[in-house]
Amino acid sequence: MTRSTETITPELHSYLVAHSEPVDDVLTDLAAETERLFPGFAGMQIGPEQGAFMTLLAQAVGARDVVEVGTFTGYSSICLARGIPADGALLACDISEEWTSVARRYWERAEVADRITLELGPALDTLRALPREPRFDLAFLDADKPGYVGYWEELVPRMRPGGLLLADNTLSHGRVVDPASTDASVQGIRDFNDRLVADDRVSQVLLPIGDGLTLARKR
Ligand SMILES: C[S@@+](CC[C@H](N)C(=O)[O-])C[C@H]1O[C@@H](n2cnc3c(N)ncnc32)[C@H](O)[C@@H]1O
Repeated sequence: MTRSTETITPELHSYLVAHSEPVDDVLTDLAAETERLFPGFAGMQIGPEQGAFMTLLAQAVGARDVVEVGTFTGYSSICLARGIPADGALLACDISEEWTSVARRYWERAEVADRITLELGPALDTLRALPREPRFDLAFLDADKPGYVGYWEELVPRMRPGGLLLADNTLSHGRVVDPASTDASVQGIRDFNDRLVADDRVSQVLLPIGDGLTLARKR
């Protein structure tokens, strides 16, 4: 019996991507254009298997009202928007006009632009300005890591019971368990992970997809 998670070698990663929902031209072109326009930042995009997983998850929970904190050039927002119905809504939060101008073009190409609203500005302000009442079916957290706990505290009251919160990079490329890693991003993730296990408003699991994806369900 296996009680642990496989170490994912590059070969195994290629294999699991090849045996997941195929990545279409829109996402392939978006990943390539992001790499060309913003080399050095393209690694911030979620990977193909995580995208497929998030689309499927949004479909599985019947999500209609979704919020994303950290949009960049749009890869994850397209995956989420594809998982909600045509009359569903995705609120995308980011601070960068330059990066999200690429997202806007690809939302048009993916034919999901009409279900996405982009709010430009510090996401904490955007979230605080929303009525503090249960609304969202699904939330995806993928912005500045030191901000995660603050985003969490704004998001949880705005999730409907049974709603799912996803948080990316919760393994910090393995640095969460390296005592020598003390930078603000790693510490922000550690604080966030510790906050979640002590939060009885949710049940959660940290999955080894990409750089760690935490799934939390509001009770
Ligand atoms: C890791 S990237 C998001 C990647 C995206 N989810 C994807 O899969 O392509 C993080 C994003 O968070 C945004 N960001 C950083 N600090 C922010 C803040 N205080 N408020 C809103 N967005 C922020 C950055 O501009 C950047 O686009």
